[in-house]
Amino acid sequence: MPNISIKDVKKVYEDASGNPVEAIKGIDLNIEDGEFVSIVGPSGCGKSTLLEIVAGLQRQTSGDVFIGDNPVTGTSRDIGVVFQDASLFPWKTIRRNILYGMEVAKVPRDEQERRFSQYIELMNLKGFEDKYPSQLSGGMRQRAGIARTLIMNPKVTLMDEPFSAVDHLTRCTLQEELVRIHQKEKKTVLFVTHDINEAVFLSDRVILLSPRPSVIQREYKINLPHPRSRSDDYLVHIASKIVADISRGAVELDNDYII
Ligand SMILES: Nc1ncnc2c1ncn2[C@@H]1O[C@H](COP(=O)(O)OP(=O)(O)O)[C@@H](O)[C@H]1O
Ligand SMILES: [Mg+2]
Repeated sequence: MPNISIKDVKKVYEDASGNPVEAIKGIDLNIEDGEFVSIVGPSGCGKSTLLEIVAGLQRQTSGDVFIGDNPVTGTSRDIGVVFQDASLFPWKTIRRNILYGMEVAKVPRDEQERRFSQYIELMNLKGFEDKYPSQLSGGMRQRAGIARTLIMNPKVTLMDEPFSAVDHLTRCTLQEELVRIHQKEKKTVLFVTHDINEAVFLSDRVILLSPRPSVIQREYKINLPHPRSRSDDYLVHIASKIVADISRGAVELDNDYII
C-alpha cells in the first residue's frame, strides 16, 4: 500500500482580479512507505502548492490525496511539515519549543522526556536545550524545527525547501543528518527543493515538474545506497540530466510566450 497517494490533483487559484491561475494541471504520484521522494522544478511551477495540498493546509480544486487509506481533508498529526523558516516560538527555550507539540497532544511526561533526549541527540543539539531561538545559529534553529516535527512521530514528513535559508556548509551537514535519520527511521518523506544536487543526494526518487501549469515532466530513480558521495559520477550524471530537462521545459515555455 502506498503511503502517500496523489490522484489526479489539480489546482486553480484566482488572481487579484478574480481570473483563474492554473497552478497544477494534473498530478498522479504514489510515494511508497519509507520512500524519500523529492520534487524539483522551476520556480512558480507549483511545488509548494502540491506540498500544502498533501499537508492538508490548502484544498485542491479536484483530485484526491491519501495517506495510507485515509483521505487528506485537513492538517493532522499523521503529517509532519517543515518549512524554510523553523518559526520557533521566540519566547520559549529550545526544550519548550520541541516539547510543545507533545504537551498539546498530552503525551505522558516520561515518554516526552525519552523522545526529547533521543531527538536532541539525533539533531546534535545537546547543550543548547535551555537556550532561546535567538541565541542559536540559523542551522541550529532549523535543526530544532525539524526535531519539533519529527518528535511527534508523524507517519509522513513533508519538507518545503527546509535548508534554503542556511549557509552552504550547514546545508550539507543538515542534508547528511537528514539522510542519517531517514536511514534509521525509514519514514516516508516528500521533500521540495529547487536545488537539484540536494535532491539527487537525498532521494530514492526525484520528480521533475514542468513549468506551470505543472504536470510530472519526468521521474528519476536514484539507485545508489547511502552514505553517498556528492561527487559520485552517477549522481553528477543524473543531476546534469535533470538540469538539461529543466532547460528543455523552459525553452517550451519561452516558445509559448512568443506565440
Ligand atoms: N494564494 C495564491 N493565489 C494565487 N496564486 C497563487 C497563490 N499561491 C501560489 N500561486 C501561484 O501558483 C503558482 C505556483 O506557486 P508555488 O506553488 O508557490 O510554486 P513553487 O513552490 O514551485 O515556486 C505560482 O504561479 C504562484 O504565483
Ligand atoms: Mg515554493
